[in-house]
Amino acid sequence: MNEFRASFHPGQMAIHMSEARFKICAAGRRFGKSHYAALELIIAALMTENRFGYKLGIEAGVYYVAPTFDQAKRIMWPKIRELAGYERTGGLIRNENVNDGWIELVSGRRIYIRGADNPDSLRGIALSYVVLDEYADMKENVWSEIVEPALMDYEGEALFIGTPKGKNHFYKLFMKALQYIRGDEETYPMYEAFHFKSGDNPFLKKHELKRMMESDTSSRETIRQEIEADFVSGGGNLLRPTDFKIVSGLPHAGRQGRFFITCDLAGFVKDRRGKVMRTDESVICVTWVEDMSADWYVVDMIHGRWDARETALRIVKAAARYHGCRLGIEKGITMNAVLPYMEDYMREFNRYITVEGLKHGGVNKYSRIEWALQGRSQRGKIKLVEGEWNEWFLDQCADFPDRLAHDDGVDALAYLDQMATAVFADYEEDVPEWQPLDLDAGY
Ligand SMILES: Nc1ncnc2c1ncn2[C@@H]1O[C@H](COP(=O)(O)OP(=O)(O)O)[C@@H](O)[C@H]1O
Ligand SMILES: [Mg+2]
Repeated sequence: MNEFRASFHPGQMAIHMSEARFKICAAGRRFGKSHYAALELIIAALMTENRFGYKLGIEAGVYYVAPTFDQAKRIMWPKIRELAGYERTGGLIRNENVNDGWIELVSGRRIYIRGADNPDSLRGIALSYVVLDEYADMKENVWSEIVEPALMDYEGEALFIGTPKGKNHFYKLFMKALQYIRGDEETYPMYEAFHFKSGDNPFLKKHELKRMMESDTSSRETIRQEIEADFVSGGGNLLRPTDFKIVSGLPHAGRQGRFFITCDLAGFVKDRRGKVMRTDESVICVTWVEDMSADWYVVDMIHGRWDARETALRIVKAAARYHGCRLGIEKGITMNAVLPYMEDYMREFNRYITVEGLKHGGVNKYSRIEWALQGRSQRGKIKLVEGEWNEWFLDQCADFPDRLAHDDGVDALAYLDQMATAVFADYEEDVPEWQPLDLDAGY
C-alpha cells in the first residue's frame, strides 16, 4: 500500500474542511492555490466512493482546468509529480500521457489536465471532481455550459480558485457564494466563499512578499488585486479618489461652520435562524460645512451592519457628540424602524435633535451621487479628515458607479447636498430679494 499525506497550510486547511459542494476561493498570487489544487486532485483521484455513496470507478473523471492547456501542463504536471511521486519509487503515479493530458494513479483513476481555451477537450466524461484554476481568466460559459453538466452523474464537486480580475464572472460567483444561505432542506451547503491574501501562505518568504509589493509596476490597485485578492474594478472614473484631499483636521479658529450628520441606512434582513444579516452597510456620515467657502470636511464615517436598535444608538451618540449638528436620515421603512429607538435614546441621554427626512428626489441613486459629489470633489471642495475610514470610502469612490460594488459611503455623503443647500436657502431669506434687471430693457 502506498500512503499519501496531504499537508495543507492553515488557509488551505480551512478550504479543505468546508463541506460545501462548490468552493469559491479568491486568493492572492503565491497563496498556494495551485499547490492546494494539486493536493485535492490527488485525494479526489484516490477515492473509491464519494460522500453521497456513489461508487467512483475508473471511468469517473477528475479534471484540472487552467485558462490554457499549456498553462495547465506547465503548472500541474510538476506539482503532481512532486506531491504524488511515481509508483516505482513508492509513489502514486502509475502511468501518464503528457500529450493527451492525463495522469493515472495507482487507484486506476485519472487526473485529466485541461485548458479552457479548448472547450471541446473538456466534453465527454462524467466528473466526480473539478478544479478551475485562475477562474477569472476563463470564459464564463466554460462552467455553466460544459463543466457543470458533467458533474451531474456523481453530484460532483468543484473548486474555483484564482486571483481576482476586476469585477467579472469570478466576482459574481464569489458574491453569490458569500450571500448564500443554506436552506433547511439542503443536506449539504451548496456554496462557500473563501478569501486569502498572498501573505496567508506561511511558506512564502517575507522578502518575496516584499519584492512583490515593491516592484515598480505595483500600483495600489495592482497590489489590492494581486496580493490582497480584492475585486478591484477601476470603476467609471466618475469620482477620482485623488480629488478628495485628506486633511489632518478642521480649519483653525475664526472659521464658522456647522456639523451635519447624514445617514444611509441598510434594510434589516433576518436569515432563517433569526440572525440579522445583510451585505450592505449602514453609514452615519459626519461632515463639517464651512460657512464662507461651503467646503465639506468629512469628519467621520461610522459604518457597519447593525440592527435597528444599535443603529439608533449610534446615530444618537453621534448627534450628541457633534453638538448643534443637523441630522438627516434617508426616508423610508428603515428610518421608521429606527425612529422609536432613537426617541428612547434621546430621552436617556437628554439630548433632543430634530430628524430631517432626506428624499431621493425622484432621481436614480447614481445620478444623485454624481451631481452631489463629482463637480464638488473635482473643484477640491470635499476634504476628508484623516481617519481609518478614509481608505474604505476612497475604494468606494474608485469603484463607483459599478453596480456590484458597495457605495453606501458615497451615498450617505451625497445626501448632504440636500441639507447643505437648504442652509444656503436659509441665508437667502435674510437677504433682500434680488431682482433681475428687466431683460428687454437691457441697461
Ligand atoms: N501546503 C504547502 N506546503 C508547502 N509548500 C506550499 C504549500 N502551499 C503552497 N506552497 C508553496 O508556496 C508557493 C506558492 O504556491 P503556488 O501553489 O504556486 O501559489 P499560487 O498558485 O497561489 O500562485 C510554492 O512555492 C509552493 O510550493
Ligand atoms: Mg497558481
